Amino acid sequence: MNIRQEEKGTVLWFTGLSGAGKTTTARYVANELLQRGVRAELLDGDELRETICKGLGFSREERFENIKRIAYVSKLLARNGVHVLVSAITPYAEMRDYARQEIPGFVEVYVQCPLEECERRDVKGLYAKARRGEVKHFTGISDPYDIPSDPDITICTSSHSLQHNSDQILSWLNRRAPLKNADP
Ligand code: ADX
Repeated sequence: MNIRQEEKGTVLWFTGLSGAGKTTTARYVANELLQRGVRAELLDGDELRETICKGLGFSREERFENIKRIAYVSKLLARNGVHVLVSAITPYAEMRDYARQEIPGFVEVYVQCPLEECERRDVKGLYAKARRGEVKHFTGISDPYDIPSDPDITICTSSHSLQHNSDQILSWLNRRAPLKNADP
């Protein structure tokens, strides 16, 4: 069965610093979509690094490999009508350009949050470790994060609520193409 282009899924690709709120926001939006009867799947960087991306480290090459695998799975899901929400730092512009080229329906969502705030939150204690030099090549501290120059959507988690950001994303999606219930 061929799925018509308009029935294919969107891939919302959440990029931003560790602790910026990518996964929290992506999960919230995924649930909102599911509640509306829209098929949605969350691909979370931390989880994938325990499964299909297990063993990959944080060098430029390994991060790129990580993103390539995530892009591949996203594409398969989206072409079968699933809306995909990816949360992965995706620190280099080159990687995001790759994903955009590779995935029809790619939407770049920049999860903006000042480094100081991510470091203050330090949910996983990794910023403290990075400052002490116990974690090498840590994004924002000892490894670069290229700020997106032209994201499709920018949300700010230090000044807006989860609900506000989720509404912003859903309105953007609805403006682009009304969200359809998976069950006709
Ligand atoms: S990406 O750069 O390849 O996109 P990804 O999103 O999959 O990264 O994984 C980032 C997560 O790995 C962070 O949220 C953090 O929990 C953990 N992590 C461990 N070491 C590092 C590091 N050196 N830099 C960034 N994140 C790290």
